[in-house]
Amino acid sequence: MTIINQHGGDLDSIERLYKIPREKIIDFSGNINPLGVPESVKNEIKKNTDLICTYPDSDYKILRQSIEEYTGVNYENIIVGNGATELISLFIKALSPKKSIIISPAYSEYERELKLTGSSVELFPLTEDENFKLNMQKLIQKLDSDIDLVVLCNPNNPTGSYLTLHEIEFLLNFCLDKNIFLMIDETYVEFSDADKQVDAMPLIKNYNNLFIIRGTSKFFASPGLRLGYCACSNKKLLDLAVSKKDPWSVNMLANLAGIVMFKDTEFIKNSKNIIAAERKKFIRELSKLKKIKLYDSQSNFILLKILDNNISAANVFDILIKDNIVIRDASDFPYLGSNFLRFCILSPEHNDLLLLKLKNIF
Ligand SMILES: Cc1ncc(COP(=O)(O)O)c(C=O)c1O
Repeated sequence: MTIINQHGGDLDSIERLYKIPREKIIDFSGNINPLGVPESVKNEIKKNTDLICTYPDSDYKILRQSIEEYTGVNYENIIVGNGATELISLFIKALSPKKSIIISPAYSEYERELKLTGSSVELFPLTEDENFKLNMQKLIQKLDSDIDLVVLCNPNNPTGSYLTLHEIEFLLNFCLDKNIFLMIDETYVEFSDADKQVDAMPLIKNYNNLFIIRGTSKFFASPGLRLGYCACSNKKLLDLAVSKKDPWSVNMLANLAGIVMFKDTEFIKNSKNIIAAERKKFIRELSKLKKIKLYDSQSNFILLKILDNNISAANVFDILIKDNIVIRDASDFPYLGSNFLRFCILSPEHNDLLLLKLKNIF
């Protein structure tokens, strides 16, 4: 029986429940870049541990300027936070929407945060029939003026589906007319192919009903650092968010790491290349299996549907955990069922191992 759920990458629970030493776990559930933390970041932290004795710059100006260089968004339109999660919470609190729509299935924190602030929440389904690709016409029919916020994860976790910059612009124009804000969580955007144009940062300067949140946990393999940022050109909303934010929520080491990581072009290029090549390999090899269906992904994970009624995602989890392999049983996501699982892309060797195991099962 699968016991791990809610969020992937919960290695402490796996260690406790399955008695597997942490370093032996092959974690296909956490969506973390297999290249690990950039060496440039490790070196900078090693050299500067004494900085822990001082407070970080409360304005995080140099960090925000390095994010400006990386994203193309003016640093005055950027704030940093303790992972994407703090910023999701902060902006939802600042906006305090009465009525929200979440494009779903999606990361569970959006719904939790919205409900905590008292928003009524409607889930707009991405459907299996449409390969989890958003049906824009259906969505805009739902958007009337009493909706305050639409939440989109792009590329979406757990489906891997995505909207392009042009589709987002269409949605934003529609929302602008109705006074609706769009929140995009781009935690996985760096894993997408450049030619797909998933990155919506170029829209920030033109739309004051948009805010984009990103974290560094996945692409820069640093969930333990807790560093994220939000871009928004709506000064009123940004100032309100800043006024509600705890000071120094990005610690000195995360601040330092951020200043270095966004400039590490070698790491960024290598990561994109490895993920794109391995994603192609997974799709090519797994498409040959008749008992599963794969969904196209522009992220570092792939959603898979089991077509054999005798096998559930929980069964697959149980089989693989015996080899210290952890995948994400995706059955707890809205609109998915007990036959959906998600796995992320790791090193070529680990991916080959998972491929072999999946071929044996299916
Ligand atoms: C879509 C999405 N957003 C945000 C997060 C959390 O990011 P962070 O570690 O930056 O808080 C996750 C973690 O799984 C995620 O999948």
